Amino acid sequence: MKSSMILGVGHYVPDHVVTNHDLSQLMDTSHDWIVERTGIEERRHVVLGGGDTTASMGYRASLLALKNAGVSAEELDFIIFATLSPDYYFPGPGVQLQEMLAPDHTIGALDIRNQCSGFVYAISVADQFIRTGMYRRILVVGSELHSAGLDMTTRGRNVSVIFGDGAGAVVVGIAEEEGKEEGKEAGGTGLGMSKVLSTHLHSEGRHARELAVISPSTQHWVSHILKENNPNDESYYPYMNGNFVFKHAITRFAEVINEALRANGVSSGDLKLMIPHQANLRISQYIQQKMGLRDEQVYNNIMRYGNTTAASIPIALSEAVAEGRLQRGDLLMLAAFGSGFTWASALIRW
Ligand code: ACO
Repeated sequence: MKSSMILGVGHYVPDHVVTNHDLSQLMDTSHDWIVERTGIEERRHVVLGGGDTTASMGYRASLLALKNAGVSAEELDFIIFATLSPDYYFPGPGVQLQEMLAPDHTIGALDIRNQCSGFVYAISVADQFIRTGMYRRILVVGSELHSAGLDMTTRGRNVSVIFGDGAGAVVVGIAEEEGKEEGKEAGGTGLGMSKVLSTHLHSEGRHARELAVISPSTQHWVSHILKENNPNDESYYPYMNGNFVFKHAITRFAEVINEALRANGVSSGDLKLMIPHQANLRISQYIQQKMGLRDEQVYNNIMRYGNTTAASIPIALSEAVAEGRLQRGDLLMLAAFGSGFTWASALIRW
């Protein structure tokens, strides 16, 4: 059985910075409230009509990941695209990315809909394709454009202050063939011993409506929405039962991290770095404390980007790699929890 490894990583965020003070001009909120509850100081929003979309941000992140991996778009065998904010209701952005990268290279493109856990689910799928020998090089992308779909009034403030836009991508390849110095020479990360050790995926659909966008859907289509013309209809904005989500997040994060540690016979002290989905700094801090991790073992950048759901882990991974926080052989834990509920972890030998 083959193993998979991460060959290269990249990210892209829009230039437009939206501070907490900016938001307080739009709704009844304050910098202090947001920082105290979430740790977020600013986030990026696309400028609508300015060219950035979920697919195009994914494309920009992908170009960097491919460059860092020393892999061309034509060498890819498959695309996996995780998002909850696609450009279109259908088709998903995977095919848009295929067209942007290499229109005549007609590889398969799979869209993943697991919200905040989407990137870890996508890594798991890529890992299985590599292990079975079906594919050799897979592009895995997480990209989100939240800002266009948020209720930017006081009514939506418990949700809209949290989310930001951006994208991250990785190229996943075969460990035994790619783990050589050639990766380094090509400007890649040169991750000789690197491999995805295990992935663990979970869901609990009974809580689907605790964090969801309900409309438009087959149960409440646009024609109904227009006919009702109800200014109080909030069903096409994200709904989040904040306290409920928080309580489940801290429990499930810890469970799925421990599951990965146990499965591999290692302890939290062995981790060089944990990159949790950037849901809320308070959730990350709680997990850190519960797992007995030191500050330098946990990577957080939610302060600058807010919660970018499926994009948050690859953006953080890209920044962590650029900062030299991971060396060959280090143990890296990725962990996520989000809407569904879904939760997941991946333990990687970097
Ligand atoms: N600014 C100012 N006041 C606000 C804001 C805001 N942006 N949002 C809510 N409030 C008010 C509420 O109206 C409420 O006022 P009231 O007491 O007069 O009714 C008060 O602040 C407290 O509201 P709560 O919702 O109870 O605030 P809480 O302390 O729970 O914090 C938060 C809200 C930050 C969303 C919290 O519940 C949380 O972190 N939940 C976890 C969910 C999360 O992180 N989700 C991220 C996305 S999901 C994921 O990625 C896992």
